[in-house]
Amino acid sequence: MTGTPAAIASAGLAAVIGAGGGLGAALLARLQQGSYARVLGLGRHAELRIDYLDESSIAAAAQAVAAVCRQASLELRLLVVATGFLHGEPGQPERSWANLDAAYLTHVFAINTLGPALVMKHFLPLLPRQGRCVAGFVSARVGSIGDNALGGWYGYRASKAALNQLVKTASIELTRRNRQSICVALHPGTVDTALSQPFAKTGLKVRPAQDAADDLLAVLGGLVPADTGCLVDYRNQKLPF
Ligand SMILES: NC(=O)c1ccc[n+]([C@@H]2O[C@H](COP(=O)([O-])OP(=O)(O)OC[C@H]3O[C@@H](n4cnc5c(N)ncnc54)[C@H](OP(=O)(O)O)[C@@H]3O)[C@@H](O)[C@H]2O)c1
Repeated sequence: MTGTPAAIASAGLAAVIGAGGGLGAALLARLQQGSYARVLGLGRHAELRIDYLDESSIAAAAQAVAAVCRQASLELRLLVVATGFLHGEPGQPERSWANLDAAYLTHVFAINTLGPALVMKHFLPLLPRQGRCVAGFVSARVGSIGDNALGGWYGYRASKAALNQLVKTASIELTRRNRQSICVALHPGTVDTALSQPFAKTGLKVRPAQDAADDLLAVLGGLVPADTGCLVDYRNQKLPF
């Protein structure tokens, strides 16, 4: 799947949170080539700054996006959240229960679960009450409990499973506000970014971020309101929770 599909490239404003990451930057670049009237990238180093460790930055960024919408008479039609954490300060994903560490668990939940939850709080109310609107939260297949055959990566798996539950819950509330709304969790596949780099084994298919971004935008563009609340991958396959 390539290009930005017509279905999603309708007029309105699109916003990408985590625009400084490998996948987020690719999503932003592709959306900027599409036909949204305005495309905004938000992140820790963007003009519209968001740091999940500081809720006031999330609230301020949402207010700034709302102001852009008002000034330009646009509605927020697409929100993509492409943030995530797997390794780095303060630790690495666990191979065994012996490696479970409170500092790592706290951080992986802060970035993968609490941050997106606060994004829901501050950004989902900006979505219009009528007409199609889409919120996509990048999750991970390893967050699927039903699909867990390998074990390991306790914190990352659990934080993404919790994110999937938040997405499902928010999708129900969002549908009550707007029956045309869509809110989903996304699995991008294994993508060549800083997040996957230490774990890319020889022979493992790691795709360029731009390919993953194109696929995710095509999937988002083809979703219908009946799909809301699902975990869907870059091939448009629904995954079990
Ligand atoms: N790469 C893969 O193979 C793979 C596979 C499955 C799922 N995923 C998921 O795909 C998503 C994107 O990951 P990626 O591969 O693009 O990794 P990445 O290049 O490491 O990007 C990480 C993203 O997380 C954001 N982030 C980290 N700490 C943050 C904080 N304190 N506050 C706000 N944002 C913070 C970064 O935001 P800034 O813009 O501020 O830098 C960046 O956008 C993640 O949800 C990841 O779990 C990736």
